[in-house]
Amino acid sequence: MRISLLTLSTLMVLGCSSDTQEVVKNYENLGGKMSVEDVSKQAFSKGVVYEDRDLHEQFYQGRLFFKTAWVEAPASTKARDGLGPLFSSISCLACHVNNGGGGVLNKKGELDRSVVLRLSNPKIEQDAETLKKGGFMPDPHYGAQVSIRSNTNISAEAKTNVSFTYKRHTYKDGKSVELRIPHFSLSKLAYGALEDGSVISPRRALSMVGLGEIEKIPEQDILKNVDEKDSDKDGISGRANYVYDIVTDSSALGRFTWKGSAPSVLQQSAAAFSNDMGISSPLFPQENCSKTQEACRKANKSRDEFDITKKRLDAVAFYLRSLKVPQQRETLKHSEGAKLFTTLECVKCHKDSFTTCDGNTIHPFSDFLLHDMGEDLDDARAEFLASSSEWRTPPLWGLGLSKKLNSLVSFLHDGRARSIEEAILWHGGEAKSSREKFSALSVDERTKLLGFLNSI
Ligand code: HEC
Ligand code: HEC
Repeated sequence: MRISLLTLSTLMVLGCSSDTQEVVKNYENLGGKMSVEDVSKQAFSKGVVYEDRDLHEQFYQGRLFFKTAWVEAPASTKARDGLGPLFSSISCLACHVNNGGGGVLNKKGELDRSVVLRLSNPKIEQDAETLKKGGFMPDPHYGAQVSIRSNTNISAEAKTNVSFTYKRHTYKDGKSVELRIPHFSLSKLAYGALEDGSVISPRRALSMVGLGEIEKIPEQDILKNVDEKDSDKDGISGRANYVYDIVTDSSALGRFTWKGSAPSVLQQSAAAFSNDMGISSPLFPQENCSKTQEACRKANKSRDEFDITKKRLDAVAFYLRSLKVPQQRETLKHSEGAKLFTTLECVKCHKDSFTTCDGNTIHPFSDFLLHDMGEDLDDARAEFLASSSEWRTPPLWGLGLSKKLNSLVSFLHDGRARSIEEAILWHGGEAKSSREKFSALSVDERTKLLGFLNSI
């Protein structure tokens, strides 16, 4: 007590304003004790070094099955056959480049394979069991996702395309930024037309940063921020998505994916094996063939009951949960940018701190809740409780390194934003006032905020 009084009076004598006594938020260790100092292409691939032999082995087995290129069955390599019959890509890593996120265009300027086009139909007869387990009604002919590739003697479902139109955002100081509006489409449809009323929803691959820590945030700490009726009248509500947990066969809080439609790393990994690569597992035992896709249904199966065993699937989830979060760079230099992140109310959705159930304080910059982001970002598709204009706040840790890992990366759920600045300028709905405040900043302040975002 005496010491702090003394410090205070000394500060007053030295003429310090109350500002200097304000605690500078220290985000340096974004992942708490799960942080790693690394700015290389491998920054998202550094994991816990386990001394226990079994855990060590599990980590490396998981890493192997995350990286490995799968092949069509039957093949001489039994461990990694079972790809397809229909699929989008041959490995997890092909979409999650260096464990990072995807971008909308590839080197040739065409739609990149890491953007999947999901299909749903709100107009056909809605089946309660399908909605309970999947959260939406898939297209009856093509299923829940367009497969752009296929095994021998089977037709891929379609080619996926994107084109853009453009508009401009002009700041008060006269500087302007071009924004692009993506238009996704299908061509070379091999199984007839989509059902009338089916909608195409694009999803960019997310990065693999800090997944294990997100899973360990106590549910009540996420639910604390729910304000469905906006009772504090700040224009920001925040809703939890409740989804189907395939392991417990019950409803659970959705923390992962763009619409918060997956409850756990394990379930999302199994769903990815199934939807993206046609690899069956005890969690998703069926091959991904619709009723009308006969050749797909009759295609060669791998010799085992499942293409990937539960043990290997568990290892992939274990590997992802063990990955560390890169530290913030030059924390002090970016403290003013960090302050702007608070004053612009970005932090109301991109929550800066949580403490995990094992006592680790982390800074993911997400509340893991759904927010209405306005019509521009509406994808015409509801998923479980998430409406078509609602999206889960994406965590921002790792943001500043994403271009380093994948030079083609772009931002937002459909990858329309070529830069962080464009991503902010697309914020609407509950985030409209935040965007307007950003737009009203001076160039110097905008640079400071973007500097901060590039440092995390
Ligand atoms: C064809 C591209 C593609 C492949 C292959 C792929 N993913 Fe993904 N991944 C995505 C997309 C797109 C999303 C976002 C999905 C959504 O929001 O609905 C995603 C999201 C995820 C997430 C959720 C991350 C978060 O922050 O919420 C995890 C975990 C994941 N993928 C793991 C895997 C694993 C494990 C594999 C391999 C078995 C894999 N992915 C293969 C494209 C892919
Ligand atoms: C109302 C909640 C909310 C507020 C306020 C908000 N955001 Fe977001 N932010 C989101 C959601 C939800 C998305 C995902 C939208 C989508 O992809 O369609 C997002 C996406 C982003 C992205 C893209 C991330 C990626 O990986 O693609 C960035 C960058 C971002 N926000 C920064 C900011 C900044 C900076 C501010 C303050 C000026 C801010 N946000 C205010 C909810 C919010």
